[in-house]
Amino acid sequence: MMPFLPLPEESNGLLVFLGRFHPLLLHFPIVLILLTLTFTGLNVYQKSSNVSFLVGPLLLISVISTLVTVIGGYLLFRSGEYQGELVRQHLWGGVLLMMALNGAAFFYWRPRQHIGQLNRIAYLIFLLIAGVTVMVTSHLGGTITHGQDFLTEHMPSLRPETPAPVEQKEPEELLVFEDLIFPVIEDKCQSCHNQYKSKGGLIMTSYAELQKGGDSEKPLFVANTPSKSELYHRITLPEDHDDKMPPIEKTPMNKDEIALIHWWIQTGAEVEMKLGPEPPDSISMMLERFLPKLYQSERLKMRQEQELESLAAELVDMSDKIGLVIELDPEYPGFFAVSMQIPPASIDNLTVRKLKPYASLFSKLSLPGADIDDDALFDIGKMTNLRDLYLPKTNVNGEGLIYLRNLMLLENINLSNSRLSNQGILNLIHLTKVKTVYVWGTETDTLVLQTLRAHLPEVLILEEEGAYY
Ligand code: HEC
Repeated sequence: MMPFLPLPEESNGLLVFLGRFHPLLLHFPIVLILLTLTFTGLNVYQKSSNVSFLVGPLLLISVISTLVTVIGGYLLFRSGEYQGELVRQHLWGGVLLMMALNGAAFFYWRPRQHIGQLNRIAYLIFLLIAGVTVMVTSHLGGTITHGQDFLTEHMPSLRPETPAPVEQKEPEELLVFEDLIFPVIEDKCQSCHNQYKSKGGLIMTSYAELQKGGDSEKPLFVANTPSKSELYHRITLPEDHDDKMPPIEKTPMNKDEIALIHWWIQTGAEVEMKLGPEPPDSISMMLERFLPKLYQSERLKMRQEQELESLAAELVDMSDKIGLVIELDPEYPGFFAVSMQIPPASIDNLTVRKLKPYASLFSKLSLPGADIDDDALFDIGKMTNLRDLYLPKTNVNGEGLIYLRNLMLLENINLSNSRLSNQGILNLIHLTKVKTVYVWGTETDTLVLQTLRAHLPEVLILEEEGAYY
């Protein structure tokens, strides 16, 4: 039942406490199940082996330790500290493992009078499934804690070209804010405090933005006085305080991180401040733990940049074949802008479909005059990072606009001189984030536009041709 139970709104401290034993406990079932397998194997191989008496007790403690571990893992899952697809798969792995082991135990202890042989075979099958499941599940768990390519990161044969070495500064040259504090903020705060989602009016993507502060207008840091600095104040509030940052369901700042921020503010909160040759003892002790992690995450970032480059090359390659121009979007680093070639190649719904594997990478899509209709909007609706969509002079009549309702960043739509109809444009009411729509030269009539404008005061519906990219 575990995977189907509703998750609690707030996590219960005691249960989280118990759940956190999961990473400790899980080593027992792994070893025990493998031992049970080994001794069972010996038994099969050598009928009356003198270790056969061990199989029963081993199986029993395998079942018990697995049960305890799975429950612990489940409590941890309910705490909300771990989320995502990988975590779900890991949870399911635990559940399957439990079922396979129960199956094995059932057939092992079932009375054997008549069908002894069948019992044995069923037992072996279930135990083998348990063996495979425990390995897959523990690998998934390892991936959750150590990251995707922890195992292969240093495997020589898999990485033929040596990645560019990451420039590692000497510790004393490190900038306290930029090199040490900011990565933590990126990790733990930016998901809610960025250009697109600035909770409390606060953006935390640069030092300058941090200085601006949020809606409360309290300064985030006051030189030499951590207690008056809103940033420090918010991260040190008690767990259950409403104003605690990050909010309760997210990974909080740890002691090291808080100590570092305290020290930095205490010393003057200067951006240029370097760690220096002799930071206070408490800080240098902390750094020993902190730096390896930091360097690791820098390496990761570096690798992601390299991957982006090779992806860009792949996209440029494809763009030639399908007749579009795909380039990195200077306005949104890391994303791509798609536009027509000059002179334009013939572009239809199928061409748009070919972009689908890369859907999340596009920030702009500009297909003026393309031979596409509302079906293409279905595939465009998968481009979750799309901000600007220019489809003037296309066959779009607006029926498919509804497919765009999940595009949370989409702001501008140009449909001038398309087949946009009165019926079609009404779908705009589903697109809550869109700010500007161009409808020049379409079949929509003024009365409908006026009604729509009254209904959607925050959307600019312009009877203009509008730009395209
Ligand atoms: C899950 C989303 C989320 C995360 C993650 C998050 N915050 Fe917030 N933050 C909010 C919300 C919502 C508000 C507005 C309500 C309030 O002021 O408590 C807010 C407000 C703030 C404010 C007050 C801004 C003002 O002037 O009113 C500060 C300071 C702040 N956050 C700091 C942080 C820090 C530091 C982190 C990272 C350790 C962080 N937040 C992570 C959601 C988040």
